[in-house]
Amino acid sequence: MRSLCSAKTSVAAAALVLLSVAVNKQIFYSRPSSSHGDDDDCAFPAVFNFGDSNSDTGGVYAAFHKLPPPPNGRTFFHRPTGRSSDGRLIIDFIAERLKMPYFSTYLDSFMPNFRRGANFAQGGATILPLDGEMFRLGFSPFSLNLQILQFEGFKSRIIELYQTGNSQGMEGHFPSPEDFPKALYTIDIGQNDLFVTILPMTDGKAKASISNVINHFSSNIEELYKLGARTFWIHNTGPLGCMPYNFIDYPPNPEAIDAVGCIRSFNELAQAFNSQLKDRIILLRSQLRDAVLTYVDLYTAQYTLIKTASAHGFVDPLGFCCKYHDGDPRGCWEKRHVNGTEINPPSCSDPSKYISWDSVHNTEAAIKWISDHILNGSLNDPQVPISQACRKNIH
Ligand SMILES: *[C@@H]1O[C@H](CO)[C@@H](O)[C@H](O)[C@H]1NC(C)=O
Ligand SMILES: *[C@@H]1O[C@H](CO)[C@@H](O)[C@H](O)[C@H]1NC(C)=O
Repeated sequence: MRSLCSAKTSVAAAALVLLSVAVNKQIFYSRPSSSHGDDDDCAFPAVFNFGDSNSDTGGVYAAFHKLPPPPNGRTFFHRPTGRSSDGRLIIDFIAERLKMPYFSTYLDSFMPNFRRGANFAQGGATILPLDGEMFRLGFSPFSLNLQILQFEGFKSRIIELYQTGNSQGMEGHFPSPEDFPKALYTIDIGQNDLFVTILPMTDGKAKASISNVINHFSSNIEELYKLGARTFWIHNTGPLGCMPYNFIDYPPNPEAIDAVGCIRSFNELAQAFNSQLKDRIILLRSQLRDAVLTYVDLYTAQYTLIKTASAHGFVDPLGFCCKYHDGDPRGCWEKRHVNGTEINPPSCSDPSKYISWDSVHNTEAAIKWISDHILNGSLNDPQVPISQACRKNIH
């Protein structure tokens, strides 16, 4: 198939996109943090997040000093923050829903606060451990296993300091040892594995490769469980075939698109990944006896939004807001030189009218809509709101 064969050329660019989408130093947004909701609430003492650019709130910026320029951040933070969007990401809406401050990036050395958790996500991160070829293509070295290794170091140092009586002054800045088993572990990763590794493959190979990625994912969950994690909130992957980035390299012909205008074969790949992910989560529930795992159907939320965009006030559901006007319009993640002058990428007048922000990542408006539909549990398995995700008997 034409599109799959020619995918190689866009791979490097795509990986770079995902890696370089980073924003700025995360400051600690202090808000009252009460953990008392209704009686069914889990009152999570902390949240630990693992993922790629979809939940990177400054990881790539802290690690590589790469900051997506303005207008990234224009809607909510009013400055670039390291996020690839005009505003908040799902992980920020999770923090708000749980009445917590936004989570500091683990690698941030400028006044982070880890009292209510830490964010280990890195733009460009994959489930598959990085090899030389992936590094060359621009993936993040911080693949999921490495993010978990960082978590292990973080947790073990805290426990050691408590055990040796050296924890004075830590209470306001770090979780306490007993918070770790009660914390929520959120994971949003896999899009890069599909986007860059699997998309260019032929159909048969792609399916086999998905199983390999899912095996790695499963080992990583088991590792987190060994490290004491019990409550997991796992996002599936969105409709790859509706990502405007792909339309530029693969202008869809009429037979290749579905009723909404998305590239059918790419969405089928995302669905194959999601169905294997869901099956594996169901298996893990029987293997990890004390774990509670929620499968979060982000795909359905986002696809529904694209399908019903105009009813929700969005225009041009397969267009995007932040783009250059000549040559390749994609590139909201970096400045360009035009006639010897460095310019920031231009963006549309009203980002809240668009679903896609930069051709890869969503606008805050779309992210908020999606968050509203997944955080109350209505699309998930089991259908449990995030504040009650620790409850086992709902399955
Ligand atoms: C760059 O210079 C060319 C030639 O002078 C001009 O036609 C073009 O409009 C300029 N582009 C911008 C963005 O100023
Ligand atoms: C979840 O939120 C969405 C969006 O507000 C709403 O349409 C849906 O009915 C809610 N479902 C539940 C179970 O609360």
